[in-house]
Amino acid sequence: MSAANDSELISRALLVRERAYVPYSSFKVGAALADTAGQTFVGCNVENVSYGLTICAERVALASAIAAGSTTFDVIAIVSDSAEPVVPCGACRQVLAEFTPALRVISSTVTGRTTEFSLSALLPSPRQGILG
Ligand code: THU
Repeated sequence: MSAANDSELISRALLVRERAYVPYSSFKVGAALADTAGQTFVGCNVENVSYGLTICAERVALASAIAAGSTTFDVIAIVSDSAEPVVPCGACRQVLAEFTPALRVISSTVTGRTTEFSLSALLPSPRQGILG
């Protein structure tokens, strides 16, 4: 995906970040996931009074894509208001790897500090999907 599309994806993540439900951490995160056909699916973190039930922005975007029938992805952009770009948690790495083990992961702060990883570097030996 081109740099222009990457910045478009970051903009989508920045926008959806505003919808984050974060009464417990006040830490809003937005994510935008692009599939190989160029469709984009967005997500924000959704917290819960039972803290462990919180869902990260990345998994919300992934679930939205799956519900729309999309299963192969190119890149996910994540945006947070932090000094450094966030790195996806272990649970999100495993859930994303189920579908695209070498997904590009772009993470940006609201001020534009941006970094990029490959999911395969963040999770070198994922438990593989057993159905595909
Ligand atoms: N969070 C995400 O949504 N994605 C990340 O990559 C990092 C953490 C959320 C979970 C929780 O609602 C809040 O940020 C604080 O950890």
